Amino acid sequence: MREASDIQWFPGHMAKARRKITESLKLCDAVVEIIDARIPISSRNPELMSIIAGKPRIVLLNKCDMANEQATALWVQHYADIGVMAIPLDCKSGRGVEKFKTAVKTLLKDKLDGYRQKGMVGKCLRVMVVGIPNVGKSTFINRVGKAVKAKAENRPGVTRGNQWFVVDKELELLDTPGVLWPKFEDERVGQYLAFTGAVKDTIVDPEDLAVRLIRVLSENYMDMLTERYSVEPNDDAYELLCDIAVKRSMKVRGGEPDTLRAAQTILEEFRNCKIGRITLEIPRK
Ligand code: G4P
Repeated sequence: MREASDIQWFPGHMAKARRKITESLKLCDAVVEIIDARIPISSRNPELMSIIAGKPRIVLLNKCDMANEQATALWVQHYADIGVMAIPLDCKSGRGVEKFKTAVKTLLKDKLDGYRQKGMVGKCLRVMVVGIPNVGKSTFINRVGKAVKAKAENRPGVTRGNQWFVVDKELELLDTPGVLWPKFEDERVGQYLAFTGAVKDTIVDPEDLAVRLIRVLSENYMDMLTERYSVEPNDDAYELLCDIAVKRSMKVRGGEPDTLRAAQTILEEFRNCKIGRITLEIPRK
């Protein structure tokens, strides 16, 4: 069993993803980067900015239904401060989708006007959707677009496997042509991705992970923990896990607290937003 601190595999596919994305970027006017609003730092690919090299970009703070609203507002402001439009998005309900369509067309207004003026009928904006696995790319694309057949482009290599989606007559989306991994070398990033379930449980020890999650939640969300599990605040995360097991009547044979079951419960309830709307990362000052 691996420990949460050991999550640091980086499959070495980055060079391939970089090549595929770079090739297909030539076909696109802008990039929409989807990140997880609960962990906007850890859910980014560290190399993306160098890959997209100056293409206009919109950031979608997805899963905002599960994130803390004030924290999401801080992120929107943070991006505005660096000149990037960030839109909170909830792909489950569709909240934010219309705003995204308007934002892309505003961002690329000059281009769109140019196409119209030149009478380029049928020429639309093309935007590449990128993001690390599990951030909600497919859910987003399925919500906004309809799949179309691969476009015939007479540049070799560019279209093979590319998936295009029509949003409306002015906008098409290209599904990420490569897998963009997060920054697994950073131990903290691996942990945060495991907390949200972006990394599967089978490779980490749930008790170890839950203790780490409790430690992180204790910093800003202790009240939510104590309320959800009817326990007293406790600075010792393992003791708090035991308290939660006791409160939930989770015991192993012999009457000891069943910390494994309690850990699985906390992780599941955090991921299902039952503890509350929680953001683990706020913009760095
Ligand atoms: P990916 O293509 O980037 O790999 O991600 P994908 O769309 O497969 O989404 C990963 C999970 O995140 C899915 O849950 C999806 O339903 C969920 N998700 C996507 N957007 C949102 C959102 O805005 N809010 C919430 N709450 N969840 C979102 P799953 O459990 O893997 O699948 P399913 O049970 O929904 O079928």
